[in-house]
Amino acid sequence: MAELSLPKNSKVVRGKHHPAPAGAKNIKTFKIYRYDPEGEGNPRWDTYDVDVDACGPMVLDVLIHIKNTTDPTLAFRRSCREGVCGSCAMNIGGRNTLACTFGWKDVVGAQAAISPLPHQPVVKDLIPDLTMFYAQYASVEPWLHTETPEPQKEWIQAPADREKLDGLYECILCACCSTSCPSYWWNGDKYLGPAALLHAYRWLIDSRDEATGDRLDALEDPFKLYRCHTIMNCAQVCPKGLNPAKAIAEVKKMMAERVV
Ligand code: SF4
Ligand code: SF4
Ligand code: FES
Repeated sequence: MAELSLPKNSKVVRGKHHPAPAGAKNIKTFKIYRYDPEGEGNPRWDTYDVDVDACGPMVLDVLIHIKNTTDPTLAFRRSCREGVCGSCAMNIGGRNTLACTFGWKDVVGAQAAISPLPHQPVVKDLIPDLTMFYAQYASVEPWLHTETPEPQKEWIQAPADREKLDGLYECILCACCSTSCPSYWWNGDKYLGPAALLHAYRWLIDSRDEATGDRLDALEDPFKLYRCHTIMNCAQVCPKGLNPAKAIAEVKKMMAERVV
């Protein structure tokens, strides 16, 4: 019989309200997802009235300000704070993006909602568990495969061949694309998702790589590659302006070309 009840702790309840400090003149309210899977309680939305005059311009500045001044229990990931490490990816105002490069002024709505990347288990608050995402990345073997003897100095590559990797090598593995992809939501355990497939393509077209056939063989599967239905969410959200959907289409083309 079908299971119709929601799983335990799946309902997000209203949480605590944290008022702005006395004297604050420029206040913006943020609604932030809070959840500790090791605790007893349901996930909740806490609201924070933030004195944005005391913050830097980005959403990450707001989160750091909240943690430093109001609520040290708030958990989130960050490292570089300049859009190169990918660790601060989260859902801000309904869109997956990087907290360190997204301005709090651009978060729309009376209460700006901030939640973890969707459809992933939550480690705590805004921190998703990306174990499967990284395992899928590792599964495409994102390193050079060669059989010819190693050159004395280095594997050389013509500038024109190197240029083919533009739009691919810049990926910071933030997971904004994969976690915005409906196909990945429903088949994330079998479909590799846009980020891993973008990397698969990056190695398939590297002029120095000698494992193209093996790489294509590994993707020849009803789920790993072919669950992309060109919905294009991935390209719309990528904070680095990359186009995983196009890379996936190119892999499908390579797959088709080798059978004719
Ligand atoms: S184009 Fe493919 S990978 Fe991108 S969001 Fe759509 S289904 Fe997912
Ligand atoms: S393709 Fe873009 S959105 Fe996807 S993981 Fe790479 S940088 Fe992030
Ligand atoms: S903190 Fe590194 S990308 Fe945001």
